[in-house]
Amino acid sequence: MQTHEIRKRFLDHFVKAGHTEVPSASVILDDPNLLFVNAGMVQFVPFFLGQRSAPWDRATSVQKCIRTPDIEEVGITTRHNTFFQMAGNFSFGDYFKRGAIALAWDLLTNSVDEGGYGFDPEKLWATVYLDDDEAADLWREIANLPVERIQRRGMADNYWSMGIPGPCGPSSEIYYDRGPEYGIEGGPEANEDRYIEIWNLVFMQNERGAGTSKENFEILGPLPRQNIDTGMGVERVACLLQGVDNVYETDLVRPVIDLVASIAPRGYGVGNHDDDVRYRIIADHSRTAAIIIGDGVSPGNDGRGYVLRRLLRRVIRSAKLLGIDTPIVAQLMATVRDAMGPSYPELVTDFDRINRIAVAEETAFNRTLEAGSRLFDEAAEITKASGATVIAGNSAFTLHDTYGFPIDLTLEMASEAGLSVDEAGFRALMNEQRQRAKADAAARKHAHADLTAYRELVDAGPTEFTGFDELTSQATILGIFVDGKRVPVVAHGGEGETPDRVEIVLDRTPLYAESGGQIADIGSLSGTGGAAKAQVTDVQKIAKTLFVHRVNVESGEFVEGDTVTAEVDPKWRHGATQGHSGTHMVHAALRQILGPNAVQAGSLNRPGYLRFDFNWQGPLSDAQRDEIEIVANEAVEADYPVNTMYTKLEKAKAMGAMALFGEAYPEDVRLVEIGGPFSLELCGGTHVHNSAQIGPITLLGESSVGSGVRRVEAYTGLDSFKHLAKERALLAGLASSLKVPSEEVPARVATLVDRLKVAEKEIERMRRSTAASAASNAAAGAELVGKVRVVAQRMPVQTTAGDLRSLVGDIRGKLGNEPAVVALIAQGDNDAVPYVISVNAAAQDLGLRANDLIRTLASTVDGRGGGKADLAQGSGKDPTGIDAALDALRADIARS
Ligand code: SER
Repeated sequence: MQTHEIRKRFLDHFVKAGHTEVPSASVILDDPNLLFVNAGMVQFVPFFLGQRSAPWDRATSVQKCIRTPDIEEVGITTRHNTFFQMAGNFSFGDYFKRGAIALAWDLLTNSVDEGGYGFDPEKLWATVYLDDDEAADLWREIANLPVERIQRRGMADNYWSMGIPGPCGPSSEIYYDRGPEYGIEGGPEANEDRYIEIWNLVFMQNERGAGTSKENFEILGPLPRQNIDTGMGVERVACLLQGVDNVYETDLVRPVIDLVASIAPRGYGVGNHDDDVRYRIIADHSRTAAIIIGDGVSPGNDGRGYVLRRLLRRVIRSAKLLGIDTPIVAQLMATVRDAMGPSYPELVTDFDRINRIAVAEETAFNRTLEAGSRLFDEAAEITKASGATVIAGNSAFTLHDTYGFPIDLTLEMASEAGLSVDEAGFRALMNEQRQRAKADAAARKHAHADLTAYRELVDAGPTEFTGFDELTSQATILGIFVDGKRVPVVAHGGEGETPDRVEIVLDRTPLYAESGGQIADIGSLSGTGGAAKAQVTDVQKIAKTLFVHRVNVESGEFVEGDTVTAEVDPKWRHGATQGHSGTHMVHAALRQILGPNAVQAGSLNRPGYLRFDFNWQGPLSDAQRDEIEIVANEAVEADYPVNTMYTKLEKAKAMGAMALFGEAYPEDVRLVEIGGPFSLELCGGTHVHNSAQIGPITLLGESSVGSGVRRVEAYTGLDSFKHLAKERALLAGLASSLKVPSEEVPARVATLVDRLKVAEKEIERMRRSTAASAASNAAAGAELVGKVRVVAQRMPVQTTAGDLRSLVGDIRGKLGNEPAVVALIAQGDNDAVPYVISVNAAAQDLGLRANDLIRTLASTVDGRGGGKADLAQGSGKDPTGIDAALDALRADIARS
């Protein structure tokens, strides 16, 4: 059964059972704690938590999911994909365990004719959480599962959460027994390769807090209602129903393997396990990369961008290790598009962008690899020169760290050079680096940190934000943390007082914590005597309520319980308000010009700069961009007062306030209104008092950041002016080099471009005529070797293979019908040595063959070549052999 059919049957089954079909969300949702959407339930979290009421009691979806923690397992096991499709059914306070088990069992075991998957019930097993007797009883009652095929497992396996605070609950998993050839018996508890998990039913009933692992987190209490969240692995089901060995060989992944097999010198499934793993890595990762790029991620050095970069680089390296030495990513992307396009049309509509981004990464990485190869050659040479055979561990480490060489690539290259590598030394250095990275990560933000240390303060109540009304506030220190551990005091130069590792929590603060697209304020804290002083470099919220100031202590000491003065850097704040109010202006202008379909998809603003993402198909026209800029600036010019008010969410919506789609808002919301109906948004940010304070808004450009998502960027205030001043200087520079007034620059450049085109054409014409006269001269200078008129010549440097072919034809035409051989050889770019030989009919009658003679040329210039009796061509690598090659050719002809 094809994957498409598996998806369709799933959705049909649940729609028939009263579920509403909901489309897959993007793999990127606006949650700083979650790099990628990793389960079907992610888009429904606010419904489970009771933050919003679900529009339906029952829903079903097939969600694009990304999971990379097991990236090293890909291709090694039969079942790990970094991208997979999770088919799910969800009940929001409607049916619970009984419904979930019965619905899943029916779909799995109903016959294919009845619309099911037709799994043999005897091969299915279930697991339940340790004390979940209810679920175990239901498996017996509904599915008739014997007690030995129901296993009980602990937190790590049968208690599901997203790995971060949010909904959670005990789960029941369904496994399929693939038979003894896949391992020992004993159920999933004994062997998860033989018993493969296909479906996870989560009985979502609790809310979890922070924690350090799958098993170690606090359960904060029950959810408002009991819910169901299930996830069936579409690729795994496909693997079983298609009778293939692993998920990489299913119908939508296999085409990539086949493509690679048609290019690589070494095949798939021919007994080399390492190669097979490489094939599967390429197939898995290129698909994931295409999906991630499709949803708006570009390769980068941290976060999502880094995951993407890592995936693409693993693809490229794996291809290299398979012996492929030409670019391959474009073909991979096209194959992924063809396989996945029918389910994910954005892969087709956005193909050019996806392909461009992926190929650019390939080109860049290949350059890095080239540089790395030079370093490797040096290391190999040094090793050999010193009489050793083992490349030093630190060379392998540098190759890995700086050039992204995986150790297996270095090992492979070393063995080709007859050397080995000090792997233990390499691993020791890797370990050191990992320790350093861990320490660094601990010093960074709270995104994935253990938050239990802050729990007491979170529970004590939210930080009061005073910064809407004042820039300086008196406050009390509630807690001090160094590296996430609570300490009573921190002193300048004291223990742990290294930059960016100290955090201070106050009862109230005027400093804005990063949220709603606005980045955090900077400022200072000072002790009452003025002796203690700290710079605040960042402010982050924990649990959405507790403001944590990251500080550098510059003098004195801070003690828990102290009174301090907290102060926002006024210049920074002024810029930040311009950026944030500017964002509202651009948003309002966009909606005015493009209409209500231009829905906000995210934003970011900092002093002087803003960016705004919105849903829109296709680029904006120049006219639209100009209009948006004008409308926004007219609203600035109108000097509208900026009003803020608190109201109920329902009322705000009724007033037409704009809110971010998918965001969970509290009942009481803050409204920011600029110019009455012009702009009304739900917003917790800091703003100017009058729109004129924003200063000029300059749009920088507009681009695509994902399927159907566009981004505008703009400067505000003084930064806007600086930007325009820079452009003015640029234009003045151009005008002065072109020696025309500024307004004539475009016309002058256009004229120059036209003239350049004419000149290029003329150069090409001259090149051809030079070649033609070279042909006449060559024909005139033909020598007689035996009975054959021979033109055997070295051509000027950089004559291309194409030039050679047309010249050979021309010369041969001029030599008439007597036996004649024309052989031209040139030194082209990068020491390449292209050559072409033509043998006319009369010479062929004497037994001469172009495809024989080409071998003589080839062997002397270290090249290859082939063709037919009348025309053959090839290319070599050793230009020093050109003269000898021509002599050898004459000798061959003389012997004929
Ligand atoms: N959320 C659960 C999982 O991801 C079931 O959908 O396994």
